[in-house]
Amino acid sequence: MTFEQWTRSVLERVETALENYLPAETTEPAKLHEAMRYAVLGGGKRVRPLLCHAAGELTGARAECLDAAAAALEMIHVYSLVHDDMPCMDDDELRRGKPTVHVKYDEATALLVGDALQSQAFVVLTSDVLAPQQQASLVRELAFASGSLGMCGGQAIDLASVGHTLTRPQLETMHRMKTGALLRAAVRMGALAGDTPDADALRSLDAYAAAVGLAFQVVDDILDVTTDSATLGKTAGKDAKDGKPTYVSIIGLDASRALAAQLRSDAHAALAPFGARAQRLAELADLVVNRVS
Ligand code: IPE
Ligand code: IPE
Ligand code: MG
Ligand code: MG
Ligand code: MG
Repeated sequence: MTFEQWTRSVLERVETALENYLPAETTEPAKLHEAMRYAVLGGGKRVRPLLCHAAGELTGARAECLDAAAAALEMIHVYSLVHDDMPCMDDDELRRGKPTVHVKYDEATALLVGDALQSQAFVVLTSDVLAPQQQASLVRELAFASGSLGMCGGQAIDLASVGHTLTRPQLETMHRMKTGALLRAAVRMGALAGDTPDADALRSLDAYAAAVGLAFQVVDDILDVTTDSATLGKTAGKDAKDGKPTYVSIIGLDASRALAAQLRSDAHAALAPFGARAQRLAELADLVVNRVS
């Protein structure tokens, strides 16, 4: 199977899983469920689900287990986007090529969409397809990655940093928390959904995921200045306009590109112990660094 074929088949599975794990649009409160589905379905690159599936294939996880983990990860990710776009945070009007949830609906709905997606992610992770022991470990991974020591904490640092210059270590910490943590969880959760990996394997996967997770936000910072809104599906040039500290604003565009390339090769190096079995993860590191949106 080529990488494109593999990606297409995973994306189809994940879309179906998300469809099924989200309440129907007709279920009351219908407006909330419609808005949740508007935010989640039919858009986004689904990088976290792809990473989850690729890591799980390495540990022999069943596809249905990976679908549940992937759907939960994407729900948390979308909740973070819906809240990130609200006027009290980045105040953005465009996401995945469509009006943001608070623009299409209203602010209270956007707040509740994020809240409800977060809860639904944990409902999904405790569904019967996963064994009780796996449910517990995946819930813990996702809760930790999205909480105050992960995504939410990173978002808090991001907002507190507007108009300030961060040192490079501070910037790295912020990026590892706000974006890297969930990407790292995607890899770990995929792996934990299969046969429990030994400590060495988990360490290698962690090193891979840490590199890919940081690379992802470095590239996001680069694309904000190099790409147009139509390609990105979100407002370009927003970081500079808002005075956000980013890799581009702190080390410049060329050094940011060099860093992304370095992190890509760090990711590849971390996969060495797995040989050809880690091909999909290696290809996903390339996708994260070479993407154009
Ligand atoms: C955007 O994430 C926000 C960041 C964490 C940088 P993605 O670039 O994965 O957004 P979608 O899911 O493809 O829309
Ligand atoms: C978002 O970072 C990180 C999270 C949503 C957790 P950004 O604010 O840079 O993401 P975009 O550029 O709006 O997608
Ligand atoms: Mg933001
Ligand atoms: Mg934003
Ligand atoms: Mg950004």
